[in-house]
Amino acid sequence: MASDVDERRTHTSEIRETAVIGAGLMGHGIAQVFAENGCSVALYDIADALLAGAMERIRANLALYAELGLENREFAETVLSRIRTTTDLADAVKGAQYVTEAIPENLNLKIDVFRKLDAATDDRVVLATNTSTLPITAIARAIKKGDRVIITHWFNPPHLVPVVEVVKGESTSEETFELAFRFLKDMRKEPVHVLKQVPGFLVNRIQTAMFREVVALLEEKVASAEDIDKAVRGSFGLRLATLGPLAIVDLGGVDLWYKGAQNLYPSLDASKGPRRLWTEMVEKGEVGAKTGRGFFNYGPGDISEIIKARDVKLLALLRLLYPKCPKGDQR
Ligand SMILES: NC(=O)c1ccc[n+]([C@@H]2O[C@H](COP(=O)([O-])OP(=O)(O)OC[C@H]3O[C@@H](n4cnc5c(N)ncnc54)[C@H](O)[C@@H]3O)[C@@H](O)[C@H]2O)c1
Repeated sequence: MASDVDERRTHTSEIRETAVIGAGLMGHGIAQVFAENGCSVALYDIADALLAGAMERIRANLALYAELGLENREFAETVLSRIRTTTDLADAVKGAQYVTEAIPENLNLKIDVFRKLDAATDDRVVLATNTSTLPITAIARAIKKGDRVIITHWFNPPHLVPVVEVVKGESTSEETFELAFRFLKDMRKEPVHVLKQVPGFLVNRIQTAMFREVVALLEEKVASAEDIDKAVRGSFGLRLATLGPLAIVDLGGVDLWYKGAQNLYPSLDASKGPRRLWTEMVEKGEVGAKTGRGFFNYGPGDISEIIKARDVKLLALLRLLYPKCPKGDQR
């Protein structure tokens, strides 16, 4: 006779019914990935206008594939036909086997939504949150199916960036951890196991450590913003597209890098908070392309062309470095 655990075991090949809660910057792209890989998706948001906007963004992403000759228009129609939109949360998750939440980063809001998800789903569902910073233990403790709650942390733009961090919370069951991992692999992503929740998981910790130094160099006028970006892109940025940092050090020599660390660590920036330059920018509202000015000047108007140019380059790199990801033949 099968044990309780066996009875609750779900095979990834069985997962075809998905729901994405929150159709913003991340949610629309996550829904697109599920639909591209053969799943039905119910996309939820709090207003019809937001859902219409999300579908427009997905349409534009698919149109770019067609424009670049990566997929035909039929593919776009098939993907779009797999996504239905709704402003009714219970309706969104009815029959769903895998739910991804991507609503704003606010713990009370997320707990409220997870309570509703808990009540409207069966025991075998996976309840994934895309939180970047919030403790999932608090979410898991607030609901009955805490063992089915997991962090799957995607990166912007989610339909193009391969890696998704799969983070095990204290209450996440081993089965949920593996199921989410295998499902994301089926979705042609490059999931990474994160064995316990630490602030920033892997990627944001590493990125933030680098960016602390970048801002310090800029504030201390060691180089211009243009030259800092040029230096990083054309040196370790390029290498990192092909090898991870640990493999890079192995090739350069662990002993050599060790000496470098001994010499450099004492002089690296160790600020406990963002530097003055950065704080002033935020206070002045110079918060990047969306406001026309950040570390660089963008001028007024639409940034869709900047985003499109980024996506064209990302797609070219993906084809080279991840030929099966994020998409390929239609399923
Ligand atoms: N933006 C990023 O680069 C990024 C990267 C990784 C993770 N995340 C995380 O993903 C989540 C979503 O981020 P985003 O950038 O897509 O946010 P966003 O503001 O673009 O989208 C959030 C969407 O959720 C909707 N929503 C659904 N239910 C809601 C409710 N009950 N109350 C309020 N809004 C509700 C909003 O209307 C909005 O459309 C956050 O937890 C964020 O930390 C973001």
